[in-house]
Amino acid sequence: MDHFLYRDGILHAENVPLPEIAAAVGTPFYCYSVATLSRHYRLFDEALSWGDHLVCYAMKANSNLAVVKLMADLGAGVDVVSIGEYLKAKAAGMPGERIVFSGVGKTRDEMRIALEGGIRQFNVESEPEMIALNEVALSMDTVAPITVRVNPDVDAKTHAKIATGKSENKFGIPISRAHEVYAMAAAMPGLKVVGIDVHIGSQLTELEPFELAYAKVAELTRDLRAAGHEITRLDLGGGLGIPYARSNEAPPLPTDYGAMVQRVLGDLDVEVEIEPGRLIAGNAGVMVSKVIYVKEGEGRRFLILDSAMNDLIRPSMYEAFHDIVPVVEPEPGKDLTEYDVVGPVCESGDTFAKGRVLPDFKADDLVAFRSAGAYGAVMSSEYNSRPLIPEVLVSGEHFDVIRARPTFDDLINRDTIPVWL
Ligand code: LLP
Repeated sequence: MDHFLYRDGILHAENVPLPEIAAAVGTPFYCYSVATLSRHYRLFDEALSWGDHLVCYAMKANSNLAVVKLMADLGAGVDVVSIGEYLKAKAAGMPGERIVFSGVGKTRDEMRIALEGGIRQFNVESEPEMIALNEVALSMDTVAPITVRVNPDVDAKTHAKIATGKSENKFGIPISRAHEVYAMAAAMPGLKVVGIDVHIGSQLTELEPFELAYAKVAELTRDLRAAGHEITRLDLGGGLGIPYARSNEAPPLPTDYGAMVQRVLGDLDVEVEIEPGRLIAGNAGVMVSKVIYVKEGEGRRFLILDSAMNDLIRPSMYEAFHDIVPVVEPEPGKDLTEYDVVGPVCESGDTFAKGRVLPDFKADDLVAFRSAGAYGAVMSSEYNSRPLIPEVLVSGEHFDVIRARPTFDDLINRDTIPVWL
């Protein structure tokens, strides 16, 4: 459930009509709901309440400072994958002891900054990274807490570009080599092993792949303990999917996920960490856009919007489906039309949907892309010199701009022309 509902025929974000925000900030814009973000965090927190746990929001999904601050206030931690995310998390008030650092290519500089600022753990993904972290920690006269990310070779049954748990993917160390790698870590005085990490992919719509991976991690926990390693924490990654289309098929809920985790790992006496991103932020956000033209093509009708692939790249990049709805609810029984929904960017890849059945639109009508709160604004760019679009946060009757639209001067002044030119 989210908080984007029609009231008196107008789509609202919580208690704010979206046209009111459009009038204040212009289109296109992203809009997020505090009530939905909070609700999704709490669902996970409750689903794991049978044991010691920390929900570490994967801020790659939506790294706006206001969103991260909300998570920090709710008691969440964060999963970061770059020092940029780490510094944003700190700036949003996230304590270092609630930040986990993932990613296959952490640099020594990034390690140093995180060790200085405080860190819950590094999720180490390779032997060379382990050697580097040990050296950095020793040079700072400190000890880095680590888990090792294992690759369980499990098919996550999701889009190939976002599956991470198969042996052909670049992530983690093969689980078959775990013993060797943990022995190596134990011999490094700059590292302290605290647990095991696994993340098999994103937008998973079944529990089975998670269960297969977690069962392997449970077995590994027992084996590593028997070999004398202290495994007190299991980081289970993120990946639980969300419904993008309004169909009968609904991915499992956090409650089902939490019950499965308890069944598979509940008797291990470990602290459980999870790193959900999409399920917390995805359905907590919409992108609102305006119709520029309705164009009649050869046997097709194009709905040309003022937003484009640079603002929301998921349809172009992953053939992802986003529900597109009118902001003003059409009267029941009104005609429906098939549209190719496109943006103004100069390539055919700038297509949000083909042959989408929608109510009749005319120029200046507002449309909303649902489920755009995760991997929307964070993946946007200024391609075609289109300034990034603003982000707005709603809570009850209140709304505020949490990232302003850059001006054209900002855009121009970002570049410099060498004096010799
Ligand atoms: N933890 C790690 C180590 C990850 O790599 C990811 C996502 C997550 C947690 C969060 O997964 P989530 O709960 O959000 O599924 N841009 C793509 C998604 C890429 C996901 C990358 N890793 C998209 O728009 O679908």
